[in-house]
Amino acid sequence: MTGKIKGTGSYRPVQVWDNDNLSHMMDTSDEWIRGRTGIRQRHIAGQEETVAYMAARAAEKALTDAGMWPEQIDLILVSTMSAERIMPCTACEVQKLIGAVNATCFDLNGACTGFLLALNTAQAYLGQQIYHRALVIGAEALSHLTNWQDRSTCVLFGDGAGAVILENEESAVYIQATHSMGNGGESLTCASRNRPEFTETRADLSSTYMQMDGKEVFKFAVSKVPEVILEVLEKAGKTKEEIRYYMLHQANQRIVSSVAKHMKEPLEKFPMNIENLGNTSSASIPLLLDEWNKKGELKAGDWVVLSGFGGGLTYGASLLQW
Ligand code: ACO
Repeated sequence: MTGKIKGTGSYRPVQVWDNDNLSHMMDTSDEWIRGRTGIRQRHIAGQEETVAYMAARAAEKALTDAGMWPEQIDLILVSTMSAERIMPCTACEVQKLIGAVNATCFDLNGACTGFLLALNTAQAYLGQQIYHRALVIGAEALSHLTNWQDRSTCVLFGDGAGAVILENEESAVYIQATHSMGNGGESLTCASRNRPEFTETRADLSSTYMQMDGKEVFKFAVSKVPEVILEVLEKAGKTKEEIRYYMLHQANQRIVSSVAKHMKEPLEKFPMNIENLGNTSSASIPLLLDEWNKKGELKAGDWVVLSGFGGGLTYGASLLQW
């Protein structure tokens, strides 16, 4: 017994900043950003568009897609590292906003691998038949964690949320592989502001924004992502030819292209929407899934690989049948 995806939903903040907007704020250009990352624009959350608000809007759309009522959900997991409040957790706020009164709710932070880790956690509960229907959400307001003075990072990120509904099914398939490399963690960091030195001495806040050694992260991603995808295929006894889509965390178009090349797979099997959304961390995979689902590109029986990678360092891949 395992969970099958019954519905997807997403939320994109109203405000859109394109590369030209950024080039008026700092020394950058559309040509540089597009050429290095593939990003053309990103959505930026307004004051009312909190992480919980975006997550709840995505959840409502996923429920509609699944044809389910909020009361039918018995587990809500939210993957986020950018929520405005530590307590109550975002999942409980979503519960309140959508009226999913019967759900058990908690958050999980696995940086850009977070959605995949949340999906794995939900599947573990469903597999044990502890819960039967789960709402799994990736939601981020990365613009809160972005240093708008640092052109090497701020041009990369965007805000948004994506959600999926899982329901237990006898014939569903879900195979996963994940890894963590704590020793490499310093290449992607963001300190908490919840420390005495920040409040007492008004110390330099720069470490409380995302900091990245871009080249190290790039090398990590292009070597480990193909490895873990092949690992999950081997576990499942599937060949590359059987896979309809590889849906990767949307960190950078060049990372996705490089993974396709390493795997000797056609780029058409690697859907991308980073051009319009930027890197939305744990929201990127469910945002992509929802877009492809709503476009009717996913057919019943299709084999799909999801792969996340990022801060920690962490990475993983999961195989599922649509
Ligand atoms: N606009 C114009 N010039 C810039 C900008 C900018 N926004 N940012 C940096 N530059 C300049 C640098 O100052 C440098 O100039 P110099 O040669 O005069 O010193 C030059 O561009 C090259 O800078 P690099 O940092 O070497 O650029 P690189 O080719 O490595 O590209 C990038 C940077 C896009 C971040 C790349 O390293 C990358 O894609 N890394 C992958 C990491 C990633 O995607 N992280 C996302 C978050 S992690 C995650 O989601 C898992």
